[in-house]
Amino acid sequence: MKHRILTATLVASLLLNAWLVLGPLHHTSPARADVTPAGEELAPYMNHLQRHTHKLGLSIQAKNKPAADFYLTELSETFELVQKKFPSYDGYQIAALSKAMIDPAKPALTKALAASDWPTAAIAYDKYVAACNNCHVAVKHEFIKITVPTGNPFNQSFATK
Ligand code: HEC
Repeated sequence: MKHRILTATLVASLLLNAWLVLGPLHHTSPARADVTPAGEELAPYMNHLQRHTHKLGLSIQAKNKPAADFYLTELSETFELVQKKFPSYDGYQIAALSKAMIDPAKPALTKALAASDWPTAAIAYDKYVAACNNCHVAVKHEFIKITVPTGNPFNQSFATK
């Protein structure tokens, strides 16, 4: 009797595990809306954006103009790709939203960097990060909150010398 109860518990927990592992996969695998026609996902691009936004912030804090220019260019290139590859995602107009939210945040940053005006660059950077988050709110991913960096986790120095 005891043995049977144990077996039943074991089977139930195996089934639950299988459901936990396979259930969500099964649910999302057919005809996902969050991929390009070529089958690409948006998240890896966002990952690049996050990393380069972080490094741009550290470059600005270190008043490192070549590094800041480099990361702002990288960000713009990634956004260009996103706008080309993801006209829509999960019913949201990713390209249009990105053009409406990120593109207007860039000129102030470009101008401040060109003038090496670091206090203004820092303010423009805050607005750029806010634009990331505004889009996350617009696409119901408000739980993804990008912040202004407070430390350097990279094996990379942003110092000018
Ligand atoms: C056009 C709207 C939009 C803009 C602008 C945008 N995001 Fe996203 N972001 C999304 C969507 C949609 C997802 C969810 C992607 C998914 O589910 O695959 C996401 C997910 C993410 C994630 C989670 C994925 C991960 O790798 O952890 C991060 C981080 C992220 N975005 C960073 C950024 C940063 C940094 C910026 C600004 C430089 C930015 N995003 C700008 C729409 C946007």
